[in-house]
Amino acid sequence: MENLLTNIEQAAVWISGRTRQNTEIGLILGSGLSPIGEEIEDADVFSYSEIPGFLQSTVEGHFGRLIIGNLEGRGVIALQGRFHRFEGYSMQELTLPIRVLKRIGIKTLITTNAAGALNEDYRPGDVLLITDHINLMGGNPLMGPNLEQFGTRFPDMSDAFSKKLRDEVKAIAAKAGIELREGVYGGLVGPSFETPAEIRALRAIGTDAVGFSAVPEVITAAHCGLPLIGISCLTNMAAGMQTYPLTHEETLDIAAGASRKIIRLLKAIIPQI
Ligand code: HPA
Repeated sequence: MENLLTNIEQAAVWISGRTRQNTEIGLILGSGLSPIGEEIEDADVFSYSEIPGFLQSTVEGHFGRLIIGNLEGRGVIALQGRFHRFEGYSMQELTLPIRVLKRIGIKTLITTNAAGALNEDYRPGDVLLITDHINLMGGNPLMGPNLEQFGTRFPDMSDAFSKKLRDEVKAIAAKAGIELREGVYGGLVGPSFETPAEIRALRAIGTDAVGFSAVPEVITAAHCGLPLIGISCLTNMAAGMQTYPLTHEETLDIAAGASRKIIRLLKAIIPQI
């Protein structure tokens, strides 16, 4: 825990020295969604490996770069490449990037990811505004001694996906003619995709989409009072719902295609939140 705090502090100090006065929105770019990072203007780009105390991404489709710049006139800081439990990071380690963003003064966090669709109304390529999550990762990032400087021992999760922000996002998307789905994200560890039986079970408990990320970030953001928007790119129908096997290549392909739509959405919402 001492180590975690030292790493958060080191990374935050290093990044703070490179942010700008207007850097207020944090952006996490999920699998296949790294092209969003290329839209950031006036950008300073750093490799995660330059940042003392930071984590490193190991997954194909996750670049491992920090981008500081402007999107539609607002100051953003983007993590182009995220960290997952399945890479071997502990749930506790996964709190680090979020706490660093909080520590450098981010006011709103937008987290994006690729996810499989369980809800039969959804189609690959659809964009999902996450309304809530179910933590199926068998652990919690806040396990262990509570870091009081970030938040309370028993944080409330009833507004983890800020209702106020969701209402704003829906209104803005409707105006811009961008279709959004709404639903519940189930977070699993991975990296094996789910079995068809698991998907049937997950659907029965109210899961609309499934993925291997988001949950640790959302819990950490709720703990430190960081308002959050969660956006999934639905890259495939979940296991057993399509006739061909699931692959990471398909995830990357479909996400790359849908990233245009997500870029449009982000460009519409960022000036207004
Ligand atoms: N399952 C888990 N994670 C995913 C999926 C899936 O079907 N598609 C994209 N990420």
